Amino acid sequence: QYSVGIGGTGSALPEKEITNLDLEKMVDTTDEWIRTRTGIGSRRVADENTATSDLSTEAARKALADADLNPEDVDLIIVATVTPDMAFPSTACIVQKNIGATKAAAFDLEAACSGFIYGMTIAEQFIKNGVYKNALVIGAETLSKILNWEDRNTCVLFGDGAGAVVLQRTEEGMGILSSYLGADGASGDVLTQPAGGSRIPASEFSLENKLHYVQMDGSEVFKFAVRVMGRAAKEALSRAGYDLEDIDFLIPHQANIRIIEGSAKRLKLPMDKVYVNLDKYGNMSAASVPVALDEAVRNGKIKKNDLVVLVAFGGGLTWGSTLLKW
Ligand code: ACO
Repeated sequence: QYSVGIGGTGSALPEKEITNLDLEKMVDTTDEWIRTRTGIGSRRVADENTATSDLSTEAARKALADADLNPEDVDLIIVATVTPDMAFPSTACIVQKNIGATKAAAFDLEAACSGFIYGMTIAEQFIKNGVYKNALVIGAETLSKILNWEDRNTCVLFGDGAGAVVLQRTEEGMGILSSYLGADGASGDVLTQPAGGSRIPASEFSLENKLHYVQMDGSEVFKFAVRVMGRAAKEALSRAGYDLEDIDFLIPHQANIRIIEGSAKRLKLPMDKVYVNLDKYGNMSAASVPVALDEAVRNGKIKKNDLVVLVAFGGGLTWGSTLLKW
């Protein structure tokens, strides 16, 4: 078995920004409400010509450059997303074409906001057992395309972006030390995009009833999130034989500052050991964790030998955590 670590990171964000003040002109809300309830101040939004594969491609190219890796040496591309360009071909196949990774297998993965951690855990297995050497794992979303911009309950929360990592062999004892994935399908109806699949295909009915947009029971998701984030982070630590006090840095899914603060409290972590960027970008679902990771690496927040926990929750319901020695 080989040890598996992150050889490079990259991220991409659309240029267009929608601030809370812009939203005040679009729905019945205020900057004050959004900031105090969520911690979000602004978000990036893709223009009509930009799809999830475009942001994914840019993030992937940056991660490859950071890892000093040629596209032909990529064995596997996984794109975690709930907003693929289309049902098929997969966004991962479009990225494969765009970057010229001609030898790579490619597929999309859907675990909502936990998707990136699911993707890392899957790619890790292929490298650990020697089947593949280099994998690109991308978390990417253009949630703005499936939001009802007249629904203040949801449109203020989300943003668009993409983050990518190159996973490859690393020295023993470094890189991914443990992972933990979970799901509770029985509670999945609190966060859905009901139409557009085989249950309710796109139709006049789905359009009229706005069923192709994100639907959410915010307070139920909130309660679940606070419960599961701390539990998932602790599970990744204990699986590798570590305790709470060993954490150097936490990169949580960026959904709501109150969820992040609640989780940090449960983990007895001061907020200066927790990465937060949702004030700038909102909740980017599967892209939140890899974009935050890329920024934290570039800002020097994560140092060599740090024990870093990535943790996320999302639709499904799903959750996942990974413990890394950087
Ligand atoms: N501006 C002003 N008022 C608003 C807004 C808004 N943007 N949105 C909702 N409200 C109102 C509601 O209409 C409601 O009013 P009412 O009581 O008169 O009906 C009230 O505010 C809701 O208040 P609370 O329920 O107390 O709001 P809460 O503090 O729970 O915050 C929030 C709501 C921000 C949605 C919170 O519950 C939350 O963050 N939940 C988690 C959501 C989440 O993380 N979703 C993504 C999951 S990840 C994924 O997989 C995509």
